[in-house]
Amino acid sequence: MLPLVLDVDTGVDDACALLLAARHPGVDLRGVTCVGGNAPLEAVVTNTLTVLDACGREDVPVAAGAHRPLLAEPHDARHVHGRDGMGDLDWPKSTRQPDARHALELLRDLLLEAAEGPDPERITLVTLAPMTNAALLLRTYPQAARGLREILFMGGAANVGNATASAEFNVFHDPEAAAVVLQATTELGIPVTMYGLDVFYEPRVTRQFAEAMIATDDRGPAGLGGRLIRYQCERFHSDAATIGDAGAVCAAIDRAGITTRSLPVRIELSGDYSRGRTIVDRRDWSGDLTHDPHGSPPDPIEVALDVQAGRFAAQWVRTVSEGVA
Ligand code: BDR
Ligand code: CA
Repeated sequence: MLPLVLDVDTGVDDACALLLAARHPGVDLRGVTCVGGNAPLEAVVTNTLTVLDACGREDVPVAAGAHRPLLAEPHDARHVHGRDGMGDLDWPKSTRQPDARHALELLRDLLLEAAEGPDPERITLVTLAPMTNAALLLRTYPQAARGLREILFMGGAANVGNATASAEFNVFHDPEAAAVVLQATTELGIPVTMYGLDVFYEPRVTRQFAEAMIATDDRGPAGLGGRLIRYQCERFHSDAATIGDAGAVCAAIDRAGITTRSLPVRIELSGDYSRGRTIVDRRDWSGDLTHDPHGSPPDPIEVALDVQAGRFAAQWVRTVSEGVA
């Protein structure tokens, strides 16, 4: 079993990711933490609980974390994700309350518990949202890092952005948090993988598959998953839609589905038009790197540059529809 914690701003595609993690028999989903991003925090928490309810996973603790970025002004993405942040679907909202702990305390508790166990117990933290919670965690409770196997974050882009021409939404929303996470993980020796826009859009599910999921399981997890894909197809006038954040969960489950390169990444914290950009250093002559006037490059992280898109999309449909690996 893969011990996993998700940090989310649910979010249509965060919902796709939750469906996959909650339904996959090889995933031990230990908890979910929420952060303001695609929608305000309160909506993110409700959406997250709603998805877990649809999967019968009331056992998974869900905690509310940061309601805003460390320094930047929040700019939600409800123009993409709907007024409620999850596609304004005809789907009953959860009435459950989240865990009484703050997200930082839930993360700390889960990680310290994992640190006490044998090595395979260590947790993969997959962040699908602005990294405010992760940054606060690593600065507040650095000792909890002992329970981490890896941080795999959906965010950034080696090439083109989406929130701006330069920057991807999750990093743009809280660039300082992203910079803190990269610095703290280096200091604490935590491996990091970036699942950015270079691969994010590629695993896609057709509207036809979505309609079949709804037809076979109207009010179950597959029905919800199908509606999330259908919402995006309608929103973007297309006949297929990305599983988005769910691809990052696929990568955690099935690492061979992505091709990564070990590269230095810096976060642009200023600039009129480039704030929030992940500057992925792909120069191949070490002389340029060592004589860079900005100083030595940061330690490299794994950057996903290619994805087996069909394999990930099929995995998502299969697991969400049938609850199998
Ligand atoms: C990321 O931003 C959000 O809109 C999505 O949920 C995803 O995490 C893509 O830039
Ligand atoms: Ca997200």
